[in-house]
Amino acid sequence: METAKPALVVHGGAGAAKELEDGCASAAERGRGLLGVSALAAAVAAVVSLEDDGRYNAGSGAALCLDGVTVEMDASVMDSQGTLGAVACLRGIRNPVLAAQEVAQTPHWLLAGDGAALLARRAGLAPSGQVSQRVRQEHRAMLSRLHSGMPSGPGADGEAYARFWEREAQLAAQRGAPGMSPESAGRSDTVGAVARDADGVFAVACSTGGTSPSLQGRVGDTPIIGSGFYAGPHGAVAATGVGEHIVRHLLAHQVYGWIADGMPLQRALERGVSLFAPDVEIGLIAVSRDSAGAHSNRGMPWAQVQHG
Ligand code: GLY
Repeated sequence: METAKPALVVHGGAGAAKELEDGCASAAERGRGLLGVSALAAAVAAVVSLEDDGRYNAGSGAALCLDGVTVEMDASVMDSQGTLGAVACLRGIRNPVLAAQEVAQTPHWLLAGDGAALLARRAGLAPSGQVSQRVRQEHRAMLSRLHSGMPSGPGADGEAYARFWEREAQLAAQRGAPGMSPESAGRSDTVGAVARDADGVFAVACSTGGTSPSLQGRVGDTPIIGSGFYAGPHGAVAATGVGEHIVRHLLAHQVYGWIADGMPLQRALERGVSLFAPDVEIGLIAVSRDSAGAHSNRGMPWAQVQHG
């Protein structure tokens, strides 16, 4: 089958504000310049751009854990030539997607926690900067939501965490501190990119600060092959949304399988999103041999470019 032109699709997270689409467009442009190198180089460059932007829940904008101090990030890379690498609960590294790329050079596919950070430091990756005011304000807004009894996620409220964190101390600490209103706080999810290069190679790269609220050590779908990401000879798929739900459907592989079976790409994306209840935030992007696109049950900033 003839392969279409190189293409790249980038998303900034299901539920993120559409105003963030400018960052996705910039990331896509950054990636476009590398589509002539490889699909993986393009996807990774786009995700690095979003990690460095600071407005997305990844890299320098990654969310704080419930303790209000710890930032733990997950990331992944995969291509249809056998590249596979991921990191989970990575701390202190500016670009987790580059750490995932380093893991792909080892005999392993997934490293977590201290070991992942050690590998990243040995690879010379830059350390994280300070947690931004924006991230701190979003954390306080999340605590306010918990305090007011608003749901913290589909089927969960603050009580779901009460046994496992110092709730009263945290709520007391944030009282009086400047914050966004709980309703206006911008919340976003994973960032990701999928690419097809001129050789017909497919690649995917993803990065996230995880859902908020989350306990330390929590891992979502983003570093889990077949759940948050998948790439093979028929295309590449990246998912965004609530990891605890996405993993139950092995969503990225499920959608990839439909595309591989010949389902039109957009229909496969819509079918994937339709697997979830309306209160579960979900988004998908994909490229196939002849198509590319995105779909979400929320607003989702995204951008697409072609090359050549
Ligand atoms: N989709 C990101 C996460 O659940 O961690």
